[in-house]
Amino acid sequence: TRKIVFKFVTMSDTFDVVIIGGGPGGYVCAIRSAQLGFKTACIESRYTLGGTCLNIGCIPSKSLLNLSENFSKAKNNFFNVGIETGELTLNLSKMMKIKEKSVTVLTKGIEFLFKKNKVTYIKGQASFKSNNEIIVQEKNSQKIYKANHIIISTGSEPTSLPGIKIDEKIIVSSTGALSFDKVPKELVIIGGGYIGLEMGSIWKRLGSNVTVIEFLDHIVPGMDKDISIEFLKILKKQEINFKLNSKVTAVNVVENKAVVDYTSNETNIRKRIQVDKVLVAVGRKPNTEELNLKKMSIKSDNQGRIQVDNKFQTSIKNIYAIGDVIKGPMLAHKAEEEGIAVAEIIAGQSGHVNYNIIPGVIYTSPEVASVGKTEQQLIKENIKYKIGKFPFMANSRAKVINEIEGFVKILAEEKTDKLLGVHMVGPHAGDMIAEMVLAMEFGASSEDIARTCHAHPTYSEAIKEAALAVDKRPIHY
Ligand code: NAI
Repeated sequence: TRKIVFKFVTMSDTFDVVIIGGGPGGYVCAIRSAQLGFKTACIESRYTLGGTCLNIGCIPSKSLLNLSENFSKAKNNFFNVGIETGELTLNLSKMMKIKEKSVTVLTKGIEFLFKKNKVTYIKGQASFKSNNEIIVQEKNSQKIYKANHIIISTGSEPTSLPGIKIDEKIIVSSTGALSFDKVPKELVIIGGGYIGLEMGSIWKRLGSNVTVIEFLDHIVPGMDKDISIEFLKILKKQEINFKLNSKVTAVNVVENKAVVDYTSNETNIRKRIQVDKVLVAVGRKPNTEELNLKKMSIKSDNQGRIQVDNKFQTSIKNIYAIGDVIKGPMLAHKAEEEGIAVAEIIAGQSGHVNYNIIPGVIYTSPEVASVGKTEQQLIKENIKYKIGKFPFMANSRAKVINEIEGFVKILAEEKTDKLLGVHMVGPHAGDMIAEMVLAMEFGASSEDIARTCHAHPTYSEAIKEAALAVDKRPIHY
């Protein structure tokens, strides 16, 4: 076979910059590199651009979150507000087609942007041959590309638990859970993190009985505790079941059903439930296996993340890594920032990512959003702080629209009043957090926010009021 393979190897172009992986990190990096005047190529094995985010992550989930929320509102709220419909039915396959269309439109959009920016799009599986040669395997042929700078941006893939095999039929990852062909009656979700709670919301709204089994005694580890407690309360009110402090010990498929065994960490009591589907959402791991990194002696840490310095350089100087394959939150926007920074660094500019100010958003209803330090982090780091909180219950816009759950919490440094962290659960929190991200980038104080005019009536007034509350002078609460 070696001979056959070599027969088809052809030497091809040399590029200034080659990016392996066409997800949010890689494609953004490719466009920025081309903008900076580099001859740029981006290699992608999926045959569509956009990576996990566009194809099987952020985008299709947000489509289904929106569609399922409309369904749930029509079913549960319309009647109460004077909108009376006939019997409501769910056409799941139509909903799935709409989701798929939104994915196609966006992935094609990136292809268009590549053409516009003269980025060469190479389809196939890439691996390293040498420091500046990449082999691209496409069906039965191989091609070798040369590059002065190579950026690894191959993203991540779902992890599972020992002994639990994801078959994407009954035991699924987020990929399978985005494409169920009918609404599972009983759905167990292992892991109360970002994926578990977003996917749980979708299927609960469409009619599943959802049970989230979480190892810790709270949901979304790392989130500010106040928000986590409030968020859990809200999700429980939506009738999502939670088994916290519980460890899943086995999942077995028996006659097209999943049998889930779990044990309480407190009491050690073992329980068993039988369900239609199980979603495993216990985190993701870097996707580096096919790259031939070991032979290249590119160093990784004990979690399989490629080690880079503050210029994104790996142990080989002209090879860089960004996004989910390196340390930091596995978020599309973090990868995008790194993509831009690394392209600028290669161009001799001072590309930079401010890791202290990366927002996180959970697109449930209501949304959860945060930026900066949590109260627990401030306590741990011995930083003195002031708190301002404001509930959406006291925000006129939220009241009119009856989206009154949740609150805004602002943490400011005790002495200087500088914003240290902002956390919120409430309507449109995911968009509203942008104001606070910007404020923190400019080093704003809570007084700066409190003295900034916010349009009335908007949800954003809750932010201004929370800032006033830092100085114990909110107007409407
Ligand atoms: P995650 O890290 O957010 O949550 C995993 C959860 O599983 C944690 O709560 C953890 O305590 C729990 N867990 C771990 N082992 C367990 C066990 N044996 N039994 C029960 N629970 C267990 O990971 P998730 O939700 O899989 O998401 C993966 C990545 O994708 C995250 O890094 C997240 O940032 C990203 N993502 C971001 C989204 C967004 O920005 N809205 C949406 C979806 C994913």
